[in-house]
Amino acid sequence: MTYDDVVLGRRSIRGFLPKPVPRNVIEEIITLATRAPSSMNTQPWHLHVLTGESLDRIRAENTERNLAGVPPSRESRGTGPYEGEHRQRQIDIAVQLFQAMGIERHDTEKRQDWVLRGFRQFDAPVSIVVTYDQALQDGDIAQFDCGALVNGLVNAAWSRGLGCVVNSQGIMHSPVVRAHAGIPDDQVIMICVAIGYPDERFPANAVVSRRRAVDEVARFVGFDEADADQPKTASQGR
Ligand SMILES: Cc1cc2nc3c(=O)[nH]c(=O)nc-3n(C[C@H](O)[C@H](O)[C@H](O)COP(=O)(O)O)c2cc1C
Repeated sequence: MTYDDVVLGRRSIRGFLPKPVPRNVIEEIITLATRAPSSMNTQPWHLHVLTGESLDRIRAENTERNLAGVPPSRESRGTGPYEGEHRQRQIDIAVQLFQAMGIERHDTEKRQDWVLRGFRQFDAPVSIVVTYDQALQDGDIAQFDCGALVNGLVNAAWSRGLGCVVNSQGIMHSPVVRAHAGIPDDQVIMICVAIGYPDERFPANAVVSRRRAVDEVARFVGFDEADADQPKTASQGR
């Protein structure tokens, strides 16, 4: 696969085959992901790769807490409810996913089932919990560095025929994850990534999320209008 094949082909996978992922493949993916840039090469991340019983215990307790209405206790700070254009994009992807899954807007039972799947990390055979050193908690940079790592992780996984969904739901009850995964006290739980072989028959796996266009996300300063892909200094030199 070329880089473009990976980046353009990757999408979140929320339905997995019940097929174990070999440890050496995960190690290969982590090797690629840890080439991510980080501030001053601090590499503040730790990856806790879970499968089997400990992951199942996390799923079970997450589900239990969710059904009991226990409020989330996530360690990484979330942004309150999204508003405006952010809320609209959140709705757009939910509509795409629900349409694919045949979940009607007012079907509370199916909606609840979908939420619970999320709290079970979509029953993926492996979950990678990403943490960073607590000493860096007060800044914004370690979280940024973890984001770079996770992007590398999902793309490296895709290049090896694996699918992922980055998942806040799985770490929404961080104390559950901390206890069952044995996360050391001096690390902050950032996010988890559910990973496994995609089930091609699972409808939501076909959903391609939309992106804002380049002219919406980027503005160019110092470029010639007539020669949009050359910096001004270069075109002046000709
Ligand atoms: C920080 C973060 C948290 C996410 N949490 C969830 C989640 O809890 N449940 C879920 O189904 N998807 C989750 N996602 C996946 C996003 O919904 C998905 O990346 C986005 O809609 C774009 O779709 P794509 O990954 O298919 O390109 C999360 C993604 C990120 C980056």
